Amino acid sequence: MSKKKRILTGDRPTGPLHLGHYVGSLKNRVLLQDKDDYEQFILIADIQALTDNYDNPQKIKDNILKLTLDYLSVGINPGKSTIIIQSQIPELAELTIYLMNMITVAQLERNPTVKNEIRQKGYRENVPVGFFVYPISQAADILGFQANLVPVGEDQLPMIEQSREIVRRFNSLYGQTFVEPKEMLSEVPRLCGIDGKEKMSKSLNNTINLSDSSDVVYEKVMKMYTDPTRVRATDPGHTENNPVFIYLNVFHDDKREIKDFEDKYRLGKVGDIEVKKRLAEILNNFLEPIRQKREEYEKNIPLVNSILKEGTERGREVVQQTMSLVRKAVKTDYFG
Ligand code: TRP
Repeated sequence: MSKKKRILTGDRPTGPLHLGHYVGSLKNRVLLQDKDDYEQFILIADIQALTDNYDNPQKIKDNILKLTLDYLSVGINPGKSTIIIQSQIPELAELTIYLMNMITVAQLERNPTVKNEIRQKGYRENVPVGFFVYPISQAADILGFQANLVPVGEDQLPMIEQSREIVRRFNSLYGQTFVEPKEMLSEVPRLCGIDGKEKMSKSLNNTINLSDSSDVVYEKVMKMYTDPTRVRATDPGHTENNPVFIYLNVFHDDKREIKDFEDKYRLGKVGDIEVKKRLAEILNNFLEPIRQKREEYEKNIPLVNSILKEGTERGREVVQQTMSLVRKAVKTDYFG
């Protein structure tokens, strides 16, 4: 009998998930949970979120429940996927400590994702140590679960690469203990923001959230960036790189209708408002079942909490098994 491959994905609980998350990862997670040869763990990385939000722990706490509602509402099934709260598995912190010996400051400094974040946050030489070393903590997440596959976006590739470096070093020093994780790169192009910027992102304030009401979605769509060269509805318009048409193509199945809109738009025969109204309708149709599911779970928060508790307990057992191998390997298993 072949062993199931373990998949680990995760999110920082820092804010609502949006359409970009759906297209780039949530959709895939929902599909993966139905594959018999995979076992999926979904980590709510609250400890990692605290590394740059340590001044606002309440925000992180509140977002754990919201994130879980986002998961459940899009169809993550707790009977198939295991949802875990990182901070409730102290063994992950313990593992982080051992892994710190496997990597140098220079290696961490070379991590392009962290480098970028340090620049963006303006930390300069005042980077909190916890933030600087979060790739090691993330490696501990991945290795603690002995994950074979880690579905990620491109910005997370350096984390997987460093996890592999840590695995090689650890295994060569102490004997075969960890499996080398592989990335599972998302194939869909990333969804642009409603402002037309390359990426939909909370920090850019250009998102449509899974939890937005239909009124909010309507307002956001009406404000969407379209073709800046088009002044009047009768001007010929551009549909390429036009977020309204990008979203239509991602969220609407009726390709004939889209083609019809595109042709008319290019000829100046349909106004932005009309296309946007239709897009708002399409997005709201897509979001409606998600909203309904969220509402059901919102009425039963004790159930959501028990999903988190049970998931975390299951996850913790897995990490505890890994830790008993690790303690043997590094000879800290004093009392057997
Ligand atoms: N760094 C990831 C992000 O910002 C979140 C994360 C934490 C993660 N631990 C993980 C992702 C382990 C995959 C596996 O999205």
